[in-house]
Amino acid sequence: MTVLVTGGAGYIGSVVTDALAQRGEQVLVVDNLTRSVLPEFSSGVSFETADICDTERIGQLIDAHGVDACIHLAGLISVAESVHDPGAYVENNIVGSARLFGALTDHNVRHVVFSSSAAVYGNASPMPISEDAPLQPTSPYGWTKMVVEQMLAAYDSANRLRSASLRYFNAVGATSRRMERHEPETHLVPLAIRAATNPGAPLQLFGTDYPTPDGTAVRDYIHVSDLARAHLLALGYLRDGGDTTALNLGAGRGYSVLEVIAAVEHGLGRTVPYEAGPRRAGDPAELVASPQRARRVLNWEPSQSALEEIVASVAAHAC
Ligand SMILES: NC(=O)c1ccc[n+]([C@@H]2O[C@H](COP(=O)([O-])OP(=O)(O)OC[C@H]3O[C@@H](n4cnc5c(N)ncnc54)[C@H](O)[C@@H]3O)[C@@H](O)[C@H]2O)c1
Repeated sequence: MTVLVTGGAGYIGSVVTDALAQRGEQVLVVDNLTRSVLPEFSSGVSFETADICDTERIGQLIDAHGVDACIHLAGLISVAESVHDPGAYVENNIVGSARLFGALTDHNVRHVVFSSSAAVYGNASPMPISEDAPLQPTSPYGWTKMVVEQMLAAYDSANRLRSASLRYFNAVGATSRRMERHEPETHLVPLAIRAATNPGAPLQLFGTDYPTPDGTAVRDYIHVSDLARAHLLALGYLRDGGDTTALNLGAGRGYSVLEVIAAVEHGLGRTVPYEAGPRRAGDPAELVASPQRARRVLNWEPSQSALEEIVASVAAHAC
């Protein structure tokens, strides 16, 4: 039995792949490498450069490797980019997922763990957000995640494809092998480190007039290793016969942009120069998870997601 990991050359996918390999799973990673550089993988991991839109090729790979489950992380990930180029997000995230699910169902793969996002909630209230909150995305990116979740519900009824949609809040942190790196980079912690180590390019703050205690946006930061562990638990849940579900993956605590900058400055022992700018289209003011359902369904507990611990894991690579 082999687990197909789409987008496994990316930041979260490479950490999920490491965790699967460490548990002794056979893993097939497919990635089109449009947003990543091929990382080194452990033995037991096969890699193929392929696009999830290529149904025929994915079908051949499923048969050749004896795939029984899929962890689907491949996608475009930037809220801001999706506002400017929604068509690319529809094509890659929605059409691509539909083609992938077609290949899975045609080749008798019945379990999918899907990388969804807190972006499905938009401007939710009250905090913390439970999975029963209305889905009202404020960006095309969030909308693509919501649509794919809805597609998965339909595939369950029609094709017995059971799924766990994991709504990540803000993935962050490093492992001994992997750093957070995106192309282009839009995430706060790597950008703050870049600004601290390259004083000519101050960090841009997108909005200082949000209705939050210090005016900057509040997010729930979850360490990538805690996220990876949740994927393994979700896979076990589906293999044990669990029903299609959606689960929040967050630490249950929010930090403002200014609080994160202060933690990075403390962790690195350097100043993070920054400039205040306008809000970015599509960004909600506050997103904090209630992780109660993931605790109950998966018996998952974040254990490395205290902000100081997250920053220490990243600082170990930056220094
Ligand atoms: N990073 C976060 O904080 C966060 C939060 C919520 C959800 N997510 C979701 O988690 C997933 C992984 O995010 P990440 O931070 O590792 O991003 P990433 O950009 O590092 O990884 C995504 C990978 O998918 C690949 N890819 C994109 N389109 C593809 C296609 N059509 N076919 C094959 N490969 C393709 C890219 O080359 C890249 O390697 C994404 O689906 C993202 O939307 C991430």
